[in-house]
Amino acid sequence: MKIAVVFDTLHPEWVDADYKRALEEQAEEAEYDVARALLANGHDVHLIGVHDRLGPLLEQLLEFQPRVVFNSCEGFGGHAQHEYVVAGVLEMYGFRYTGSPPTALLVARNKSLTKKVLAYHGVRIPAFAEFAPGEKAVRPSALRFPLIVKPLLEDASVGIAQASVVEDDASLTERVRFVHEKFNQAAIVEELIEGRELYVGLVGNAAPEPLPFVELTFGDPDSGAHRIATYKAKWDEEYRKRKRIRNVFAKGLSEQMTTRIAEICTTAFHALGLQDYGRVDLRLTHDDEVYVLEVNPNPFLARENEMADAAEKAGMAYDRFVQRIVDEALSRDHGGA
Ligand SMILES: Nc1ncnc2c1ncn2[C@@H]1O[C@H](COP(=O)(O)OP(=O)(O)O)[C@@H](O)[C@H]1O
Ligand SMILES: [Mg+2]
Repeated sequence: MKIAVVFDTLHPEWVDADYKRALEEQAEEAEYDVARALLANGHDVHLIGVHDRLGPLLEQLLEFQPRVVFNSCEGFGGHAQHEYVVAGVLEMYGFRYTGSPPTALLVARNKSLTKKVLAYHGVRIPAFAEFAPGEKAVRPSALRFPLIVKPLLEDASVGIAQASVVEDDASLTERVRFVHEKFNQAAIVEELIEGRELYVGLVGNAAPEPLPFVELTFGDPDSGAHRIATYKAKWDEEYRKRKRIRNVFAKGLSEQMTTRIAEICTTAFHALGLQDYGRVDLRLTHDDEVYVLEVNPNPFLARENEMADAAEKAGMAYDRFVQRIVDEALSRDHGGA
């Protein structure tokens, strides 16, 4: 089957053959893992890197005429906020593609809109307030400390550090100003939910299959640090080792709780209009309340990461997992989303 893998790249001048060479060198990128899996599954794969021009993307797609596009774009022109545009263009040109539609990519990126949609669907979310760029943070009295301050539109814990957690109004004002200045966007301020942090991957559409839950564990309970997934806690391997921060399969959840979490995640998946796959991040409090923190329509699909590991535990080795996503994209209704 002809499959185009579309992704954002720092080498927009490269063509398929250049990327194929990089593939052979075992370069570590999620899209290369995906492409290698598709090749291993016997497909005719064409790699298309996008930076800040749509012309070359469209020319190559129109020429190659893929049966489906594997959309691995996480931004456009270096801006993660424009992630939704590529899916929009694929849709406008009538290409079938894997993953979520532009609406889901757009809404899920906005941490405030996401929470409003989830609340409408009865999903429990942390109480929050949003402060536009330049606006002084005046805390609504209903919001209780500790609070966490985040950029409204980033992901991958960009802009999230230990200092994001604030315990008084002065620090709140200061951190909101920091987000405005550094990220040039609104800040969202949420009540900090203490509890276990779980990541639930889902694959499918009408009745998405929840994958085994992954938990982020913090090795040192007495460190005094807030137990949150800061940028460093997610991406700095050395720091993770030192702090004994690990992603493990969640243990000890009752069958009833597992079912409840899976239902909440499915509701969140549909509420945001996700397609084919996604990941819901949540917190489980000591008194068994489940709070959804985030819905990720475009989670990291690299080998040996949360989604891939969870899929493997569910019996889908990586190549099969990637194939499953393609199959989901081809078998769902393409009425337009
Ligand atoms: N309201 C909250 N309560 C507790 N922890 C939070 C809250 N919001 C964010 N965090 C912590 O920060 C991490 C990143 O926040 P998230 O909203 O998922 O942003 P990103 O899109 O960058 O992943 C979460 O995984 C969690 O550990
Ligand atoms: Mg997150």
